[in-house]
Amino acid sequence: MKAHDTQIHLPQLQRRGFINEPIPEGISLEAEILRLKEEKNAVLLAHYYQEDAIQELADYLGDSLYLAQAAKEVKEDVIVFAGVHFMAETAKIINPSKKVLLPDLKAGCSLADSCPPTDFKKFKEQHPDAVVVTYINCSAEIKALSDIVCTSSNALRVIESIPKETPIIFAPDKNLGRYLIKETGRDMILWEGSCLVHEAFSFDRIVALAQEHPTAEFIAHPESESQVLDIAKYVGSTSGLLNYAQESQATSFIVATEAGILHEMKKRCPGKTFIPAPVEDESCACSECAYMKLNTLEKLYNCLRFELPEIQLDSQLIAAAKAPIDRMLALG
Ligand code: 13P
Ligand code: SF4
Repeated sequence: MKAHDTQIHLPQLQRRGFINEPIPEGISLEAEILRLKEEKNAVLLAHYYQEDAIQELADYLGDSLYLAQAAKEVKEDVIVFAGVHFMAETAKIINPSKKVLLPDLKAGCSLADSCPPTDFKKFKEQHPDAVVVTYINCSAEIKALSDIVCTSSNALRVIESIPKETPIIFAPDKNLGRYLIKETGRDMILWEGSCLVHEAFSFDRIVALAQEHPTAEFIAHPESESQVLDIAKYVGSTSGLLNYAQESQATSFIVATEAGILHEMKKRCPGKTFIPAPVEDESCACSECAYMKLNTLEKLYNCLRFELPEIQLDSQLIAAAKAPIDRMLALG
């Protein structure tokens, strides 16, 4: 079925953010997704926070930087992005001739939402001499207001590429920003945004858990709060955390990032134990990103089947948002 056959479903799609079409009975979703990928000349990019079954189907599985680099090189006609909206949007910006699909358009990001473009524009105007560095977890409009983008993998390198005397605005993540200030000694002007998932970790409960597991190493993503990062043996992006777990002599780890990463950690380190860091609210699965988990196998199947929902961006916005991403990618 072609995309134009689905016009009747568009109002429904717009309301829900995904194609709510019944799944044919008796099919294997995994097998059908692989078949449709082939048929549509599509490639599946997935982030480590996706559900395990989606990670298993991915052609490219990785962190934000790796997925942006992969998106730039894609030769196939269609990119299906199993991640959140800013990631799919980034893929569209850096490879605009491709059709970029996101299984659920409502797969947003609390960090990206914490930085509305109108407010950020006014903030930027208050610091006209500053270089604007934005974390990739932001909207295309915010990227278009930036000088250079970074991810948690290359943020230190990006900051260090800016002359020492130049003032820097860093947005939207204040926690990553504080961590970078500590690591680089640079005094940056921070936007007050944060990620709900990484701010949910409980310092007291992590300390108590570490006492119960004295040989476990505590490792954390830099979106976590500074008191949590201060007690971490290693701080890094999702890929960084994975590499550290593989290389470390330790055999158990307490991991402060979204719980989806544990799937790949267990696969790469079969003899090691991974314990998700506890959150403040014991009754809540807060270490799961509710946005990331909006993508399901069913939505992925329908997304490939109907080639919807598609990321669509104005060409001027693409051009303005692409320049700071290209500057980041040029740093290697
Ligand atoms: P990474 O780039 O480290 O994978 O982080 C993405 C993200 O959204 C973290 O919350
Ligand atoms: Fe955004 Fe946080 Fe989810 Fe990452 S974990 S996508 S920063 S809400």
